[in-house]
Amino acid sequence: MNPAESNQTTASWHMNTSLANKTTLVTGVSSGIGREIAEYLAERGARVFGTARNAQSATPIRGVELVSLDVTVDASVSAAVQSIVQKAGPIHFVVNNAGYGLMGALEETSLDEARQQMETNFFGVLRVTNAVLPEMRKGGFGRFVNISSVVGFLPSPYMGMYAASKHALEAYTETLDHEVRRFGVRALLVEPSFTKSKINHSGKDAEIALKEYAVYRMRMKQAVEEGVENGDDPRIVAEAVYQALTAQSPRLRYPVGNGVLLSRMRRFIPAGLFDKISRKLFKLD
Ligand SMILES: NC(=O)c1ccc[n+]([C@@H]2O[C@H](COP(=O)([O-])OP(=O)(O)OC[C@H]3O[C@@H](n4cnc5c(N)ncnc54)[C@H](OP(=O)(O)O)[C@@H]3O)[C@@H](O)[C@H]2O)c1
Repeated sequence: MNPAESNQTTASWHMNTSLANKTTLVTGVSSGIGREIAEYLAERGARVFGTARNAQSATPIRGVELVSLDVTVDASVSAAVQSIVQKAGPIHFVVNNAGYGLMGALEETSLDEARQQMETNFFGVLRVTNAVLPEMRKGGFGRFVNISSVVGFLPSPYMGMYAASKHALEAYTETLDHEVRRFGVRALLVEPSFTKSKINHSGKDAEIALKEYAVYRMRMKQAVEEGVENGDDPRIVAEAVYQALTAQSPRLRYPVGNGVLLSRMRRFIPAGLFDKISRKLFKLD
């Protein structure tokens, strides 16, 4: 891209950060955080396409067009993206939200279970991003907001593969942002803490259960379930997504709720002390 073109895309970007009529794809809107994001963005004027693996059985959301999409299947992702482009033209905004949690000590987690977790939470994001990015780049305009988690920057004992999938998503997003920024495209992260949703029900348990981990695993599972039940209102995650999509100069990371404090602690507390605090918090000793 020559400097004149580059200035042009920057200028067009600055004129266009409002949501009005922007074609917006949100994955995983059948429940929880994705549902709230889709509704919130539609209320603010975006043309929102929300996905679920089975759009027919998903409860309708006012102002949101539902599309079937399984983020683990190449053909499903390309068919969904094509159908949206045919209806509404180029996609301007993508919120990669679909995901689930896998509970179990790492030694209890099979390679297949680990692969499935990465297939949805990490490779699912790559599939959707790769399907949308070429046209977005050519148009010189767009934003990806990837729903990470506080466990994208913290360890999460007994949910290690879930934490690994979100850590990978953080590295991917930060790198992508460096690569695509000169095309007028940004890739950003929203990092919720415990948030009310169906994640306790949609989550999976590792099939192998070793008695050596049982007490701590059960303790952690109970803490996570209680955390989600008493968690943040998903609306605050939707607000953070809205800020990331519309800010003239967006931040790379938007921690939400307790995530704000946790993210500061992670950055500023020395590693040894942070390790001690984490073990106390997770009741590991
Ligand atoms: N709740 C929390 O405490 C919390 C905290 C931090 C981050 N997060 C993240 O927030 C995101 C949303 O989770 P949630 O808490 O709202 O959970 P949720 O209520 O269980 O919603 C998960 C959504 O993901 C979709 N999904 C799952 N697997 C999919 C696949 N293979 N293809 C397409 N869609 C798929 C589900 O749709 P269908 O099953 O209908 O296809 C559902 O709409 C996840 O990325 C999660 O990691 C949640």
